[in-house]
Amino acid sequence: MYHDQITSGSLTFREPFLLGAATAAYQIEGAAHEGGRGASIWDTFSHTPGKTADGATGDVAADHYHHLEADLDLIASLNLDAYRFSISWPRVMPLGDGDINQEGLDFYSRLVDGLLARGVEPVVTLNHWDLPQSLEDRHGGWRGRQTSYAFERYAEVMGAALGDRVAIWATHNEPWNNSYSGYGSGAFAPGVRSHEAALRAVHHLNLAHGLGVAALRRTITRPDARVSVVLNIFRIEAEPGHEEAARRVDAIANRAFTGPMLRGAYPAELFDYTRHVTDWSFVQPGDLETCHQPLDLLGVNYYEVMHVRGAADLDPENLSLGGTDFPSSEYVETVQPESLERTGMGWGIEPQGLTNLLLALTEEYPELPIMVMENGAAFHDQVTQIDGRPAVLDHHRTSYLIGHATATHRAIEQGANVQGYFVWSLLDNFEWALGYGPRFGVVRVDYETQERLPKLSAHWLAELCATRTIPHLREHP
Ligand code: FCB
Repeated sequence: MYHDQITSGSLTFREPFLLGAATAAYQIEGAAHEGGRGASIWDTFSHTPGKTADGATGDVAADHYHHLEADLDLIASLNLDAYRFSISWPRVMPLGDGDINQEGLDFYSRLVDGLLARGVEPVVTLNHWDLPQSLEDRHGGWRGRQTSYAFERYAEVMGAALGDRVAIWATHNEPWNNSYSGYGSGAFAPGVRSHEAALRAVHHLNLAHGLGVAALRRTITRPDARVSVVLNIFRIEAEPGHEEAARRVDAIANRAFTGPMLRGAYPAELFDYTRHVTDWSFVQPGDLETCHQPLDLLGVNYYEVMHVRGAADLDPENLSLGGTDFPSSEYVETVQPESLERTGMGWGIEPQGLTNLLLALTEEYPELPIMVMENGAAFHDQVTQIDGRPAVLDHHRTSYLIGHATATHRAIEQGANVQGYFVWSLLDNFEWALGYGPRFGVVRVDYETQERLPKLSAHWLAELCATRTIPHLREHP
């Protein structure tokens, strides 16, 4: 078993270090047509036949909107230092750039106050993919530059509303998925399949990030608040002799975002790799300066290593690359090493990849503290009975978390500047196009009754947060 390989029980996270759990609005809130909320591209997409598993939608999800107080108590019961959630943009600005919906702002204000009252730091993501549908209809969503300006205004509204209380702000979550899955492969909302559209989205997300950071700096007042972005920077491992494939993926998937945001330039090789797709004329003078704003933190999401090799003979019309897509004139193939244990999603389990990623990021950006803003796993949970009470003994998930918390600790020991670790996810939730099949929560959600049941992993997390030392795996809570 994987957990036999784990040594822990004596590794302590020293302050300043935030331990927490994460969620996203569309994945948990429900109440899609309540409280003055406008439609998002995920409402439209999930209601389009064939786009999500079993036609699942986020209409109800974990109904967090109606379980706010109970969920706040649940968060407090896990001893979290911090809770990361996202704002539903169309809940606060139903058309994206028009009127403000006070009822939506009030909901998030209650959430933030409820966290602070329980001693939990609020960590807010502005864009976790649920773009107002109206911006898609009027401006082509992230294909259009107007959406970046709408995001600037949205960031300003949120900074003014919550900026006196929120500890950490992130502009985007995984703009990679937002652009390449949303506009490239079409696997995610809004379901556009065009390499050119994906690269336009990349740039307008980068521009929105810069405009958004500046808007937050103008409006937030909490003196120790920090501003960041959450990227799923891939740890890429090439098969021997296939280093060029790794360079391509690195340019298109990673440096297309870190370049503008952290260095103020797109890497030159990105233009070469995508020459057949676009001339990048949508990048206007001054944009890269705007994208490049000083950040207080870099958020990273880590789930698995990407193993690649070059595949020049693939059909050039074939968009697919390991389930995701990259516009590239030379094709890259992902490979799945057979030796790895896998999660319920089939994702390879390699905690060492997280250590390597964190060390590489500190080496490249020594001034920038890092937080692991998402890490976790879906497994096929079973509800059993212990002493006549229902329980989920999710040893696999707990082992996964022990392995990755330990990997984070190892990175710190070796000099990585890591200041936080957040588990994905607090609750089982709507896993995007995969619907309600995969369960990532440390707390089980019964979607019939909306009952919450902390799994063994939740007890483990509560102990980690209370003791700051990575607990051993136990058989029972
Ligand atoms: C990440 C997303 C998050 C969740 C996890 C499993 O890519 O940011 O919303 O779906 O994957």
